[in-house]
Amino acid sequence: MRLYASALVFAFMLVTAPNNSAAASVASFPIDWQDWPVVARHQIYSTDTILPEDASAFFQESVYAYTWMNNGQGSPLTIRVNPNKMQQYQTHGPYTDGITVVAIAEASNIVWVTEHLGGFPIYGSYNLKGEDVSDDHPSLAPDFCHSCHNTYKDICINGTCFTPEP
Ligand code: HEC
Repeated sequence: MRLYASALVFAFMLVTAPNNSAAASVASFPIDWQDWPVVARHQIYSTDTILPEDASAFFQESVYAYTWMNNGQGSPLTIRVNPNKMQQYQTHGPYTDGITVVAIAEASNIVWVTEHLGGFPIYGSYNLKGEDVSDDHPSLAPDFCHSCHNTYKDICINGTCFTPEP
């Protein structure tokens, strides 16, 4: 019971804490993303999604972190790769500097960006107009992106998680 109460207090603190975290996008916005080749058309799941019980922790976290988008209705998710970095993307690097790949959830008005700098992945969240929206929701902050993309190292390698067919 006490544990439950402190979890509530913590949740309350999270909600009421002043937003001075300055979680601005670190990766930049690629203005020509619409010209980049599509490597996958996947989806963001809706809030009523029930995953099989044996779904991996990684899959569950990836799905449930973003069911809030598009009013919980889910949306298509398109992955587009910088044409100059296609080969690097297929092998998960090594990555040269610059924007590497975007994931676009058009129905949610979100463009996720993964860029590389000195071989290190950096992240950003924008709307389709290119305005930084990484402060709009805790799950859009670059630190949150990093926490997942950097944890499951057998799946996300050098900051990219999907592996396209060669
Ligand atoms: C809980 C885990 C998780 C979090 C948090 C997360 N991602 Fe991802 N990300 C994934 C998975 C899984 C994929 C592969 C999705 C697919 O294939 O449909 C992916 C794919 C991507 C892609 C497509 C390129 C690739 O292969 O990685 C981009 C770009 C991306 N994420 C950026 C971000 C950004 C920016 C954030 C933070 C706002 C973020 N991600 C947060 C798990 C996560």
